[in-house]
Amino acid sequence: MIELGKKFPKDFIWGTATSAYQIEGAAAVDGRGPSIWDTFCQQHGRVFNGDTGDVACDHYHRYQEDVALMADMGVKAYRFSISWSRLLPNGKTDSLNQSGVDFYNNLIDECLKHGITPWVTLYHWDLPDAIEVETDGWLDRRTADLFADYANLCFELFGDRVKNWITLNEPWVVAVLGYGQGVFAPGRQSNSEPYQAAHNLLLAHALAVNVYRNKFLETQKGQIGITNNCDWREPKTHSREDKKAAQIALEFFLGWFADPIYLGDYPQCMRERVGNRLPKFTDEEKALLKHSSDFFGLNHYTTMYAAKQHGSSENLSVFGNGGLSEDQGVQLSVDPEWALTDMQWAVVPWGCSKLLKWIAERYGNPPIYITENGCAYDDTIKEGRVDDEERQNFMALYIEECSNAMSCGVDLRGYFAWSLMDNFEWAMGYSKRFGLHYVDFSTGQRVAKESAKWYSRLIASSNVNTKLGMTA
Ligand code: GAL
Repeated sequence: MIELGKKFPKDFIWGTATSAYQIEGAAAVDGRGPSIWDTFCQQHGRVFNGDTGDVACDHYHRYQEDVALMADMGVKAYRFSISWSRLLPNGKTDSLNQSGVDFYNNLIDECLKHGITPWVTLYHWDLPDAIEVETDGWLDRRTADLFADYANLCFELFGDRVKNWITLNEPWVVAVLGYGQGVFAPGRQSNSEPYQAAHNLLLAHALAVNVYRNKFLETQKGQIGITNNCDWREPKTHSREDKKAAQIALEFFLGWFADPIYLGDYPQCMRERVGNRLPKFTDEEKALLKHSSDFFGLNHYTTMYAAKQHGSSENLSVFGNGGLSEDQGVQLSVDPEWALTDMQWAVVPWGCSKLLKWIAERYGNPPIYITENGCAYDDTIKEGRVDDEERQNFMALYIEECSNAMSCGVDLRGYFAWSLMDNFEWAMGYSKRFGLHYVDFSTGQRVAKESAKWYSRLIASSNVNTKLGMTA
């Protein structure tokens, strides 16, 4: 493990990540307005066990304790998100909630006091419900403009101290799970709306970056980018057809969001296959999008095989698959030999380095930050101790693959473990534990799992790295 740490340069960013709705709680406290996740959780049968984010980890009241957990671990950076409706209860800048401003000011200051660099995500899926009602959410272009206004406010309020901004977290999830399969808020099912929502999300990102670069960059001197998620897709066989299927799957997954930013438009294969359900960018929008990310934020969890879909299969639904298989003509599967996490996601570390290399090659070797990687296991606490060996193994193997990719020239600059602590895992409620810290949801008590201690030792060992003359 010490050897693993030493493979990373001294200035590599080791962090942990969370998001507002998953940890804050205090949903109706101090003037916060509801988001689409609050209303989604109220709908019967949407979330496992009827769980909600009303209390979650109660981070709103316990943030000092949580920052202290990170300080104890020696993490250098903390990625968290701002709850748009805590700052602006109705989503618009005329509704500023001073308690929300105070909370994020305090959190940011607390991080800085402990030498932890804040990495702030502006949108981690929790659209103010007032906007959803008024504009139809991400199906409406006006939501992109409202997002840019909200982003502008965040830069104004916090940009003197926050130097790392992430506009959106995983727009793929919003589009496909929120508007395609309907399993996440706002719970819609369609085969065209995902493309419309994604389009407006991309524009929202570009508009926010434009505001930052034109109004704030010169004085605040930070960086701003987007975080996308992608699994690796491995061709199931060596056949040309399956190789092509894997490539199509990756372009539909990551290319959908990264091509417009790095290459100027949606992937050719999407334009051909989706046809007029895929909106078009104007020349002006293309220009706004191109080069609109200072870094490549990547959330990566798992890998699947991809093969050409032969004929129409029963498991292809005509509606509500979000373009996942019917538009791609790709059949996905996993190897029965692969170990699975509690999410039933396969543990395939080599998929991580393959994906990093794919990104480097396709997008001209951009600086990459893994803004999420981690795993859920059914952790239990025994005599105050959580022995999560599987999580340590998972992280060690994935981090090793990060180092392998770096030795092939990939410009990877940071790794954020998902998550700092167990939290509200969206439609799975509190049934899945991703944390480095165990949370007892009945008392709110946090306990460092063995993986947190392990991660802390890894960080310490990379700090003393002398390789490549990178010692202090
Ligand atoms: C990501 C998401 C996180 C977290 C994680 C584990 O897609 O950004 O909020 O839930 O997955 O499922």
